[in-house]
Amino acid sequence: MTTDSSRSFPRARVKKVRERAAPDAISLAQTHNAARIRPLLEAAGFLTVGLDHPGICVIAATRNAEVIGVVAVETIVDCALMRSLFVTPSMRRRGIGTRLVAAARAAAVTRGARTLYTLADAAAAPFLARCGFGAADYRAALDELSGCPLADYLQTHRGPALAWKLDVSADGIINR
Ligand SMILES: CC(C)(COP(=O)(O)OP(=O)(O)OC[C@H]1O[C@@H](n2cnc3c(N)ncnc32)[C@H](O)[C@@H]1OP(=O)(O)O)[C@@H](O)C(=O)NCCC(=O)NCCS
Repeated sequence: MTTDSSRSFPRARVKKVRERAAPDAISLAQTHNAARIRPLLEAAGFLTVGLDHPGICVIAATRNAEVIGVVAVETIVDCALMRSLFVTPSMRRRGIGTRLVAAARAAAVTRGARTLYTLADAAAAPFLARCGFGAADYRAALDELSGCPLADYLQTHRGPALAWKLDVSADGIINR
């Protein structure tokens, strides 16, 4: 009789199946590599201040290993700032922006936010309205977001013209 359990049972044969993403599939994932997305944002004229802050959540949309979209979330207690939302022009109107907002919204709620703010120029209004955002007071938004790197920077610097907000308090169950 042996006490070695590996000899008592036949080893199960497990076939390893590698899942490959379909060619041209678009995937979204959180990234710690701000250097990967910084050139895209800088080329598009975005402020990149605070992107290296340890508390920030950066989500990249990639296609064939190329970054084609990005969004980032800064959270302070129970409100969050969705920032750096950008989709490469040739990839727009395919739902990628909407997917990035959904990911940012989930990230904000996971981090305890009840209100999700964003700052944008008027051109983004139709898209943001479609995502459920409503107009907010710019100064009040910056005050509420005090402690978020980009919001603090914008207290004394020029940035996007308008503030928007979305109530995400019913998105998740976080007992306080
Ligand atoms: C705003 C932005 C992220 C949208 O990305 P996107 O991938 O094109 O967005 P979607 O495909 O998910 O658009 C969803 C819907 O929003 C609306 N929408 C998006 N872009 C629009 C535009 N330029 N004009 C009017 N409506 C628009 C449409 O209703 C669209 O649905 P449809 O294509 O079926 O008509 C992208 O245009 C962008 O990067 N713009 C420059 C940077 C910017 O403005 N960022 C926002 C700061 S908050």
